[in-house]
Amino acid sequence: MTDTTSAWAALQDRFDHVGDRTILSLFDDPSRAEVFRCETSGMLFDYSKTNIDAATRAALLSLADKAGVNERRDAMFSGAIINETEGRAVLHTALRNFSGDPVVVDGADAMPDVLATLRRMGDYAETVRAGQITDVINIGIGGSDLGPAMAVQALSPYHDGPRVHFVSNVDGADVSDTLRGLDPETTLVIVASKTFTTIETMTNARTARAWMSEGGGDPTVQFAALSTSEEKTAAFGIPAERVFGFEDWVGGRYSLWGPIGLSLMIGIGRRAFDAFLRGAEAMDVHFRAAQGAENMPLMHALVGIWHNQICGHATRAVLPYDQRLGQLPAYFQQLEMESNGKSVQMNGTDATQHTGPVVWGAPGTNGQHAFYQLIHQGTRVIPCEFMIAAEGHEPDLSHHHDLLVANCLAQSEALMRGRPFKTARAMMAAKGVKGDDLDVQAMHRSFPGNRPSVTFAYPKLDPFVLGQIIALYEHRVFVEGVILGINSFDQWGVELGKELATALQPVVEGTQSAADKDGSTQALVDFIHRNRG
Ligand code: F6P
Repeated sequence: MTDTTSAWAALQDRFDHVGDRTILSLFDDPSRAEVFRCETSGMLFDYSKTNIDAATRAALLSLADKAGVNERRDAMFSGAIINETEGRAVLHTALRNFSGDPVVVDGADAMPDVLATLRRMGDYAETVRAGQITDVINIGIGGSDLGPAMAVQALSPYHDGPRVHFVSNVDGADVSDTLRGLDPETTLVIVASKTFTTIETMTNARTARAWMSEGGGDPTVQFAALSTSEEKTAAFGIPAERVFGFEDWVGGRYSLWGPIGLSLMIGIGRRAFDAFLRGAEAMDVHFRAAQGAENMPLMHALVGIWHNQICGHATRAVLPYDQRLGQLPAYFQQLEMESNGKSVQMNGTDATQHTGPVVWGAPGTNGQHAFYQLIHQGTRVIPCEFMIAAEGHEPDLSHHHDLLVANCLAQSEALMRGRPFKTARAMMAAKGVKGDDLDVQAMHRSFPGNRPSVTFAYPKLDPFVLGQIIALYEHRVFVEGVILGINSFDQWGVELGKELATALQPVVEGTQSAADKDGSTQALVDFIHRNRG
């Protein structure tokens, strides 16, 4: 990494230069849509509806270059310890490496173990799919829940195994609502926890175990574990043959590709799971090989840097026009906000830029009838990331899909074009509005426009494409982290709350006094105690 100060300054200069220009005016160049896009393995990333021009793109690429993105990327893939605060390599990409090339960690090739575990998972998944199990419950939280839960929903057209359920929240409502109606004798419980210490997961796992024993099931047979800790899974009573391990170089929010994906694999089968991994691998290969503006994750990240760090837009909306991607925004929230929500740089000094944006969203068209009002006419600009498939999985409902596509494209067009006051005024005048009221009514019906968005388009949401999309976002987060000089692979910010919750548990239970707590906490504990039946 070289000094990036001048690269940031050049971008600021670009911003000052293009501030007043409209995005729409950039389309005076008829080739714009062909130039401000990337394509790889059937996926299109269109970022032409942003205020990025050739000079800005060059300045962004220069920032990436100076920040050492390529060197850092190669270091990640080669197994270097790039998660420095935890002293770990970052190798979730090894879980989808079918190249035959070794991945060396601590002097040894990690691939034989990775592939052996994948084979064991496949054999086990096929046994479960062929047996008496009717329902599978994945008990986990964060990265041990969001990924498989999102993917099981996304790939439901490919699901031909037992039903799969997810329990994550320590709120007893979650486990209770899930267990109700299930048969303890035909349910498989998968305890998914990298550390096997997470209080929510262990509490839910114990509750499920008691439910199974009391209901005539056999937890010594109907429990499996996904974890890095063989010791802890054994202590819980899960025999080694049903423990699927992985290494600490797989981060929790990057773990869907290995054992944490077991519930998905049981649902869709090993072949479809394999296609999912291959989609991700294709994105890895592209990320390592594609140069500059051809590189989709790199450009995706740079568009993010432009909008957040340069233009100052503090949030971004993920808007899949794909009902089955309903849980994707929540998955990306963890991926992006746990990875890049930091304020200290690698070297221990304060970050010099704002870091990760707030990521949120919901599928279209539902969001259109909820929060798009603010996106179109609110005072804040929210860069949007649209996603759309060329076709759905319901051939007899293709008219639905046409409507879905039309809505998706209409939204990005509306955000860019807006509706000038003059047009709104003419529209209202044509409706017979007159006098002072005409301007007032026209003001309310004007749209500022010039609001940026990007669109991802893909043939169909199949396992390969889902793998591509997730890997794309993983690498985008990685690139942004490198440019911001932060460690995207630790999560120290979740620790304090966990420590305080552990300390508060006896206070809430009433076995310890709240006297050393602040006034607000004391009063809240008091309210809870007084209002218990
Ligand atoms: O508390 C945050 C976190 O550590 C996440 O990073 C992780 O995905 C989640 O908890 C669950 O952790 P585990 O898989 O160890 O139970």
